[in-house]
Amino acid sequence: MPRKISMIFGASSMLWMLFAVSQAFKIEISPEYKIVAQIGTPISLTCSTTECESPSFSWRTQIDSPLNGKVRNEGSKSTLTMDPVSFENEHSYLCTATCESKKMEKGIQVEIYSFPKDPEIYLSDSVEVGKPVTVTCSVPDVYPFDRLEISLLKGNQNLKTQEFLEEMQTKSLETKSLEVTFIPINEDIGKDLVCQAKLHIEEIDFEPKERETTKKLQVYISPQNTVISVSPSKRLQEGGSVTMTCSSEGLPDPQIFWSRKLDDGNIQRLSGNATLTLIAMRMEDSGIYVCEGVNLVGKQREEVELIVKEKPFTVEVFPGPQISAQIGDSVVLTCAITGCESPSFSWRTQIDSPLSGKVRSEGTKSTLTLNSVSFENEHSYLCTVTCGRKKLEKGIQVELYSFPRDPEIEMSDPLVDGNQATVNCSVPNVYPADRLEIKLLKEGSIMKNKIFLEDVGKKSLESKSLEITFIPSTEDTGKVLVCQAELHIDEMEFELKQRQSTQTLHVNVSPRDTRILVSPSNILEEGSSVNMTCSSDGLPAPKIVWSRKLNNGNLQPLSENTTLTLTSTKTEDSGTYVCEGVNLAGRNRKEVELIIQDTPKDIQLTAFPSESVKEGETVIISCTCGNAPKTWIILKKKAETGDTVLKSTDGAYTIHKAQLEDAGVYECESKNEVGLQLRSLTLDVKGKGNKDYFSPELLVLYCISSLIIPGIGMIIYFARKANMKGSYSLVEAQKSKV
Ligand SMILES: *[C@@H]1O[C@H](CO)[C@@H](O)[C@H](O)[C@H]1NC(C)=O
Ligand SMILES: *[C@@H]1O[C@H](CO)[C@@H](O)[C@H](O)[C@H]1NC(C)=O
Ligand SMILES: *[C@@H]1O[C@H](CO)[C@@H](O)[C@H](O)[C@H]1NC(C)=O
Ligand SMILES: *[C@@H]1O[C@H](CO)[C@@H](O)[C@H](O)[C@H]1NC(C)=O
Repeated sequence: MPRKISMIFGASSMLWMLFAVSQAFKIEISPEYKIVAQIGTPISLTCSTTECESPSFSWRTQIDSPLNGKVRNEGSKSTLTMDPVSFENEHSYLCTATCESKKMEKGIQVEIYSFPKDPEIYLSDSVEVGKPVTVTCSVPDVYPFDRLEISLLKGNQNLKTQEFLEEMQTKSLETKSLEVTFIPINEDIGKDLVCQAKLHIEEIDFEPKERETTKKLQVYISPQNTVISVSPSKRLQEGGSVTMTCSSEGLPDPQIFWSRKLDDGNIQRLSGNATLTLIAMRMEDSGIYVCEGVNLVGKQREEVELIVKEKPFTVEVFPGPQISAQIGDSVVLTCAITGCESPSFSWRTQIDSPLSGKVRSEGTKSTLTLNSVSFENEHSYLCTVTCGRKKLEKGIQVELYSFPRDPEIEMSDPLVDGNQATVNCSVPNVYPADRLEIKLLKEGSIMKNKIFLEDVGKKSLESKSLEITFIPSTEDTGKVLVCQAELHIDEMEFELKQRQSTQTLHVNVSPRDTRILVSPSNILEEGSSVNMTCSSDGLPAPKIVWSRKLNNGNLQPLSENTTLTLTSTKTEDSGTYVCEGVNLAGRNRKEVELIIQDTPKDIQLTAFPSESVKEGETVIISCTCGNAPKTWIILKKKAETGDTVLKSTDGAYTIHKAQLEDAGVYECESKNEVGLQLRSLTLDVKGKGNKDYFSPELLVLYCISSLIIPGIGMIIYFARKANMKGSYSLVEAQKSKV
């Protein structure tokens, strides 16, 4: 093709050479030789002459086809205007100017093209990741299209380049397109689609030879990963609320629509917000809720099923279906309801007896207060709750017991070693008494126990006791006596089903072995002092009480000191002194005889009528002692073979019908523990024959009698010795003297 064009140009320059010979008269044409014009635009060719007054112009095409233009002559100028330029103008135009006889001609080649607009990019569809899309780039009204090259680029990547080299059948403006199909990927987001069109015509000059259109690649992602989260749960209770949040991914960000599937299959729009909160749910609100993520290229839906359950209407009783109450206590029975706004309450006993209590209902709660429960409250109480058309009933069984105090231990007081003692353990105000067991334990081992079956079914408060007798010993001291009372009611629950009291045993020992120590002796000489010390065993240690026994047998208390001291004694102090050991367990006494004596004085021995009597006469030998009635008088008849103690009455011995043998030495001895006096006389009995009788040995004895006096000291010695042993017997002392 370019070769053909140059041949045409070659011919026109030869024509120009032909006319160049004429002088002065000149012809010019502009533009010179050639003009490149785009189809549809106007162009003008101007032919002008110089050195000619009135030239005449004529225009023609080389091949004598119509001009397809308008000629305007004006003086030395002729203009051929082609408006617009079309295929018919693609010629070599010749302008002929005639000046008189001179004729001059000049030619100009009109070359045409068409490349008027930038390429246009079309997309078959929205650009969605993963979905094939066809991009069309079309370049309109191109001529000559066989020089056209179209390239389509995605970012920097060339998708396709095409040249349109097919033979042009006719001269026409053609719109050429390039089509590329590709599958968009995520990386395409933000890239440009570029369509480049190039018209390759090097031999003519025009602008632009290259046109380009850029289109931002608008990539879409259809909603995906649509997820619903439900808080707190898909299962709800009447009146509850739920928050559902839906999310969906896509480009552009999908819009979220919430709707609900109705039973008839229709959809009820709810919200255009991702978060849907439903409050005060009713059972009718159960159903399928749909979330739809929607954007320009698509939609995705997700469903969730909400189940609204009927709020249960429940009645609860407090403290429970059973309550154990102690007689006298206050009891509050509570009936509470959930799941009902405004319930109504009523209370009754199962056997329709009076309530004997106070009812107070407020809101969803009702209480029945039983002040100081008694046997008339031992019922099953029923609480009836009405809520709308629904009705519920719950019962509370009030069970009674009474076990208010610890057992009381009563023990015989004091406990005395070896003496029988009683222990009484009593438990007051018990109910039910037939369940009571009382046990008495000593040091953990059971002494006795008792149950009270005779009280079965008795509706009253009973006081029960258990008694034992036992003989305590000192070893029991410090041991613990426990009284245990147990109310055997397994079916009831309360504190203190067992109560107990304890008592520690203290066993006393009554006073015993009371002893008296007399110092120096219990037989004293008037004016001397004596210490009498008393001791007694027992637990607790006995107290000592000294007293003196009066004549009437009564005791005159003297001292509570262990030692009773008598100083400067007188004979009147003689008597019986009593020491008593006393403690709370008893008393024990010991007596001591105190003898205070004067030495015997003024002893007189006489014979009546005379110391010399005749055989057959009656003679009375009488001995008297001046002091101390206690003085003993012993009347004896001395003999070689041994003394004969005479049976005297008040110191007098009567000899009826004196015999010769009655003659002899008679001796009267007055002695007490502190001294001795002797008197003697010699009785002479004269025989009827006037014969005297005198025993020579009597004389010997008489002489000896004066030696007896020192013997008194001996008696005192014995008395003292006996006293030290704590007792004294005059008879013994006398025996030991002999
Ligand atoms: C969605 O709900 C939130 C929270 O209730 C609210 O702040 C927001 O304005 C709502 N948006 C629309 C579009 O309703
Ligand atoms: C034990 O004590 C109780 C209460 O003091 C009394 O009622 C009961 O008679 C007593 N029992 C005996 C056997 O003394
Ligand atoms: C009696 O006891 C007191 C004090 O122990 C003592 O001084 C006194 O000598 C005692 N008297 C006699 C007679 O033993
Ligand atoms: C008992 O003894 C105390 C001191 O040992 C003495 O002061 C008091 O007088 C005595 N009482 C009698 C009644 O002897």
